[in-house]
Amino acid sequence: MPPLPSLTPPAPHAPTVITRPDRPSVGLLFNPTTPEVMEEAAPLVEHLSINPGQMFHDLGPGSRFGQRFAFPGPLLEAVAGLRQGRVLNAHGFSLSLPSVGPLDGEIVEAIATVGNQLGGYAWISEHLNVLTPPRGSEPHCEAGMVLPVSYGPESLDLLSHKLQQLHARLGLRILMENPALLTPLPEMEMQEPEFLNHLYRQGDCGVLLDLHNLLVSARSGGPAMEIYLEALDLEAVEEVHLAGGDELYGVYTDSHSRLTPEEVWAIAHEFLPRCPNLKAITLEYNDTYFERIGRAAVMQELSRMHELAQACRRAPQPIAT
Ligand SMILES: [Fe+2]
Repeated sequence: MPPLPSLTPPAPHAPTVITRPDRPSVGLLFNPTTPEVMEEAAPLVEHLSINPGQMFHDLGPGSRFGQRFAFPGPLLEAVAGLRQGRVLNAHGFSLSLPSVGPLDGEIVEAIATVGNQLGGYAWISEHLNVLTPPRGSEPHCEAGMVLPVSYGPESLDLLSHKLQQLHARLGLRILMENPALLTPLPEMEMQEPEFLNHLYRQGDCGVLLDLHNLLVSARSGGPAMEIYLEALDLEAVEEVHLAGGDELYGVYTDSHSRLTPEEVWAIAHEFLPRCPNLKAITLEYNDTYFERIGRAAVMQELSRMHELAQACRRAPQPIAT
């Protein structure tokens, strides 16, 4: 591997921009049904997450169209309208930060372009997963599914450096999301909470804690949710995802196809009031299941999230501008 260029590390524990001074905000991950939800529940949605990779078309490096990315104007205009008066954050996986390959600077620029078009991100989150395997003939070859990371000092160094590079370019607080693992990961040099704790304590990133992903991993042979959370530095948790899933051929999956299960709500109420830096609670559902979940049920879920946010009230903090 060529030597990595040195970069100034980010300021340790640089704050995530917050929406509310006294409690976490409640928000949604944008999908095509979000405008319909917002028509009815606009006051309940205090922040909006977008996957920036869904806001541009990647035509590939060296595209014959003369540019690698195309940005759909009507979609960006619609999102710009929805985020008015709300904090916006970027939540993606296209950077595949734990991959062994270098940071794809062109994708970073495309993410930044989307942010500029929409009035700016408050923070950015990425998944603790591998999406792009080691490169062959294709410069940006995606695996088609997210793959687990091998937790150990080598991957920690690699990821730490790429987080510093990303921070140097975007100047944003970065959060890494715990993955949904569909199989146990034996013989790791580190456990996942330890790996995330290192990244946080080094000042590289905070944690986006997906509680439903924890449930998926626990049902697939991973640690029980309580054991995982007792090992995680709860100061690192700055955003939480809620979601639900279904079984597929006997495997419980992170399909975002249902409301948040009751066992996840119970864990949320037990642990989230102990997360002093929690700024945002975000609902994820897949738009293809919106009809089955039901519009009224989504509204009810948002109301429950507000009750949870109230349970996490804290001393007022200054809102960064
Ligand atoms: Fe998530």
